[in-house]
Amino acid sequence: MARKYFIKTFGCQMNVNDSEKMAGLLEGLGYERAESPEEAEVIIVNTCSVRAKPDNKAYSFIGNLKRIKRKRPETLIAVAGCVPQKEKEQILRFSHVDLVFGTFNFVKLPQLLEKAKEKRTVEVLDRVIPEEEKIPLIESSLENPFVAYVTVQRGCNRFCTYCIVPFTRGRERSVKPELVVEEVKRLAEKGVKEVHLLGQNVDFYNYRGTQLPELLYLVSQVPEIERVRFTTSHPAGFTEEIAKAIRDIDKVCPYVHLPPQSGSNEVLKRMNRGYTREEYIEKVKMLKEIVPDVALSGDFIVGFPGESLKDFEETLSLVEECVFDQGFVFEYSPRPYTKAAEFEDDVPKEEKNRRLRELQELLKRQAEERNRKLIGKVEEVLIEGFSPKGTELYGRTLNNKPVAVKGEASLIGKTVKVKIEESSPFFLKGKPV
Ligand code: SAH
Ligand code: SF4
Ligand code: F3S
Repeated sequence: MARKYFIKTFGCQMNVNDSEKMAGLLEGLGYERAESPEEAEVIIVNTCSVRAKPDNKAYSFIGNLKRIKRKRPETLIAVAGCVPQKEKEQILRFSHVDLVFGTFNFVKLPQLLEKAKEKRTVEVLDRVIPEEEKIPLIESSLENPFVAYVTVQRGCNRFCTYCIVPFTRGRERSVKPELVVEEVKRLAEKGVKEVHLLGQNVDFYNYRGTQLPELLYLVSQVPEIERVRFTTSHPAGFTEEIAKAIRDIDKVCPYVHLPPQSGSNEVLKRMNRGYTREEYIEKVKMLKEIVPDVALSGDFIVGFPGESLKDFEETLSLVEECVFDQGFVFEYSPRPYTKAAEFEDDVPKEEKNRRLRELQELLKRQAEERNRKLIGKVEEVLIEGFSPKGTELYGRTLNNKPVAVKGEASLIGKTVKVKIEESSPFFLKGKPV
């Protein structure tokens, strides 16, 4: 019987991509993917600590693995990612965990596994290692055969006062453009049609002078690749050149994730975001002028320390002014090591939740209106597979909107023109024309 592995991933797309790379490394060692942790010889939990919620979920998932270890003591249990990067001691309290590593050294997974088979191993580094340069060369085991993530930038230098990421992923570093292109070429050979270039602040991508617009151009030169996206944009780094790259490079999709976080200048200042409400609105105006069909999405934090009702209303009015296609709202939670953890977390839990629901309601209304306008229109949809229920096909428009499509399995992996017939705030439905 083949040896099997199971990876549980929490957190952002970057963590998903790291897990795909870890899976690739394990498959290179002869392991096969298991359907459940019960069947696996190696279990990896790739953790996220950006907010209290994913952090707690990771801890409870790790706790539950004790059961498996008791039944099959030879199972190797590893915890990786952002949580151990800052709290390895807490992870080590779980006696059933054999291997702990962080975000800087997952590239060394094969060596770490060997060590952990001998004895309990903890290798959490706080510095970039030369092996990091090899990450683009690791073959990912893809979650989705047609749409793939390509990490082009790691770490963050911006130190927003609420954010733990600079502490879990270190300083910003961009991947050499040649390596990015090589990775994209290899993905294309495997049948990938769409790539998402990932970075914490991908707008600030800079490898010895090569910036994001040029990288987008280079990647879109790979013939088999039909679509290129990039995320996350930072409002302070988003330039007219980037907007023009979306307009001028055919394959670059008109979709921008540009998180404002708040619409209040007071709050933005205390968050250390590096832009004002007015500057944010100006950037969105510029983007929508240059790319009129762009879809805009964003993240918002409600209940940041000191956020008054008036501050919150300014967030609502920023949303009214900018109009979003999609928005993600988070209740503020203090994170270790961050500056804001020293501020008084003074917005009561119920009030945070009330603001969350109010903002979500507004964003939902906007999404509903934006999607309703697409009824009767023909959209290009890359069909990725079947919808979860299995009755229809599933794909995304150039604007990154999910669509359920009536059609045959032979369309999977193809880009088809779809006439939109129904809409909801989060979903479209249509049929091929
Ligand atoms: N680099 C990206 C994403 C950072 S993490 C950026 O700069 O926007 C993803 C989202 O989690 C953030 O956009 C923010 O909305 C949210 N987030 C981060 N820290 C948080 C905290 N302490 N409490 C609540 N939400 C938080
Ligand atoms: Fe966190 Fe701010 Fe960096 Fe984004 S820009 S990762 S929110 S510190
Ligand atoms: Fe989470 Fe780390 Fe990503 S904290 S959001 S997995 S960078």
